[in-house]
Amino acid sequence: MASASFVKLNAASSSWMGQKSSLGKRSPGSSTCRVSFSTRASSYTDELVQTAKSIASPGRGILAIDESNATCGKRLASISLDNTETNRQAYRQLLLTTPGLGEYISGAIFFEETLYQSTTDGKKFVDCLRDENIVPGIKVDKGLVPLPGSNNESWCQGLDGLASRSAEYYKQGARFAKWRTVVSIPCGPSDLAIKEAAWGLARYAAISQDNGLVPIVEPEILLDGDHPIDRTLEVAEKVWAEVFYYLAENNVVFEGILLKPSMVTPGAEHKEKASPDTVAKYTLKMLKRRVPPAVPGIMFLSGGQSEAEATLNLNAMNQSPNPWHVSFSYARALQNTVLKTWQGRPENVEAAQKSLLVRAKANSLAQLGRYSAEGESEEAKKGMFVKGYTY
Ligand code: 13P
Repeated sequence: MASASFVKLNAASSSWMGQKSSLGKRSPGSSTCRVSFSTRASSYTDELVQTAKSIASPGRGILAIDESNATCGKRLASISLDNTETNRQAYRQLLLTTPGLGEYISGAIFFEETLYQSTTDGKKFVDCLRDENIVPGIKVDKGLVPLPGSNNESWCQGLDGLASRSAEYYKQGARFAKWRTVVSIPCGPSDLAIKEAAWGLARYAAISQDNGLVPIVEPEILLDGDHPIDRTLEVAEKVWAEVFYYLAENNVVFEGILLKPSMVTPGAEHKEKASPDTVAKYTLKMLKRRVPPAVPGIMFLSGGQSEAEATLNLNAMNQSPNPWHVSFSYARALQNTVLKTWQGRPENVEAAQKSLLVRAKANSLAQLGRYSAEGESEEAKKGMFVKGYTY
């Protein structure tokens, strides 16, 4: 991880690709011979930029359905269904065959199992998405494990074999990837945990781009804790500074990435809740200080906010123009009502699909800054926060 600032050609633009360094040449009168290197051109650069742009298109955002089998099992258990492959397939089929979904959804993130699945009629899920002009994506991290030497914090696994897995996912139709690591405010966060999170995200991003996948960069700052919003701002600024430092060190093309930040809010157990205007003010302040305008899209996670809250906060952030597309990549805040409406019954599929469209449309309007909470159901207002949530 030694500093390699001399190789940071111009990571914020794609012009670094294929440039040859002159550092290998012996300068006249110099007695030191420095190591020669060249940066490798990626054949995918134009495609990455195009993919990122199409995901970050006006009025659209991402449907995240990349719950691991264990997490999907918890969702299914909440409606008394067993965690079988058949039930997971049936649930994902319901979501992915919703007619008209592509009007509001530009990308969908799969867990590996889903990428290789088809509908009961034999149509690949990837093709269901393509027909709606939705880009298929894939969760590539291998989950969180304890970080030795830290304050009960964790680190995210998955770099081993990532290049070959990514190449396979590309062949299967995926065009973007997601890697979620977490930072806990009540646990510090320690400098070690932040550095590890940032370095892992940057290595993953470089490997994804090298294999044609647009990386979603997601250092989730967990909602857990009773801290005020100013403390979240301070931690978020530190985390994103470190993330962009290492993204640049790894020559990641900023035009070909998407971010998935947490909104800047008080801790879930803090005595006061923040209004959408306050959340928007803090979150945009943080992002404007840390995220270059070369990045095409900011796709927020919902992190345990209620469906209505996540939509209201997004809407507040789109009341004036931003340097990037500001949108959503929600899992819980798009799926909660759907799951409750479905209850695992075939006769409820249509109603459940309609409820997905209601949420997708609400968030689409919020992306355009035109959402009103009038007429929202009581269900949509219920919080979904779970302490120490894993994915
Ligand atoms: P939530 O919107 O449920 O926080 O999802 C987070 C996530 O990383 C999904 O891909």
